[in-house]
Amino acid sequence: MALLLCAARSEPSASPESPAAASRGVERQAFGTTPAGDSVDVFTLTNEAGMSMRVTNYGGIILSLRAPGRDGRADVVLGFDALDDYRSDAYAASSPYFGALIGRYGNRIDEARFSLNGTTYTLDANNGPNHLHGGEPGFDERVWRADPFERADSVGVVLRYVSPDGEAGYPGRLDTEVTYALTDDNELVLDYRATTTKATPVNLTQHSYFNLGGEGTGTVLDHELTIDAEAFTPVDSTLIPTGTVRPVAGTPFDFREPTPIGARIDADNRQLGIAQGYDHNFVLARQDRDTLRRAARLYDPDSGREMTVLTTEPGLQFYSGNFLDGSLVGKRGAAYGPHAGLALETQHFPDSPNRPAFPSTILRPGETYTSRTVYRFSVRTDPP
Ligand code: GAL
Repeated sequence: MALLLCAARSEPSASPESPAAASRGVERQAFGTTPAGDSVDVFTLTNEAGMSMRVTNYGGIILSLRAPGRDGRADVVLGFDALDDYRSDAYAASSPYFGALIGRYGNRIDEARFSLNGTTYTLDANNGPNHLHGGEPGFDERVWRADPFERADSVGVVLRYVSPDGEAGYPGRLDTEVTYALTDDNELVLDYRATTTKATPVNLTQHSYFNLGGEGTGTVLDHELTIDAEAFTPVDSTLIPTGTVRPVAGTPFDFREPTPIGARIDADNRQLGIAQGYDHNFVLARQDRDTLRRAARLYDPDSGREMTVLTTEPGLQFYSGNFLDGSLVGKRGAAYGPHAGLALETQHFPDSPNRPAFPSTILRPGETYTSRTVYRFSVRTDPP
């Protein structure tokens, strides 16, 4: 074990699940070797409060995230302990993108093509006729350069990946940098930056699946969700936005007040039918990129765990884990069935390169793409 950074400032509070939790700092260990022969590492980040997170520079995958609850800490993200589990045939067949960084374009692009400045670009069609999550391999399967750090109020790791000109069909070389910082206030702060050599679409996101009761302990249908959105973008049968922006009022998509996810998921609603549940982009209350605003809040009444999502992005893809079919077995040995976890992906809207009315995703040479998302963890002490 290579101990890279580990400043023992204080012992974390004991918890029933992790009596031997490490001191504040970042620990680096070998995680395995990719088929291409690249060795990858796993970084264990532990904050002052004893919250911890394991992340690998293979795909920037968050392997585990141990968040406090009324009765102690639990691992609240779906995934596996070993690199091979993220490379198995079963994993490739179901393509869940557990915990990974997504690029160059989170979500779908219609018919895997777009036109920009008079040129039509053809992308990798990896989801029926469409392009999904940057194609295969996307950023979720790349080996990122990793630089761990320890700052006054956080510990973390900076991941960098250079996507060559033409990768997956996209124009321009994209220099990408993503910082994961775990603050001493139990916030996971994600900062994205990118620059390009040619105008190109960019829409980076993070694809963790959360279950605040603990991964592998059941579904998220009892979790209460709030989304700060007045509208969402309905989709066609291939999950591409139709182009309309529909008010959530009076629909099962109205999460402006805290609502259990399972309360309306089986409602007779064409949009829920198409996606087998929620798998939709919510239009957040404002469109500017400058301010960090609350986008959503997730609360598990049983454990008291609460997660608040803040972002500078204009959209939030709420995916209720509809396509999990039990074929993948997670860290505690439980099969992940439908709704075993949910993703709250902060991003620009799907298919924006083909939708001039949606906020633009085009990054140009000389500009810097910046985006910030915060997943803030807290515990409600009031009993359920
Ligand atoms: C989500 C997407 C879903 C599904 C999932 C991965 O981001 O919205 O439709 O593709 O990723 O299985």
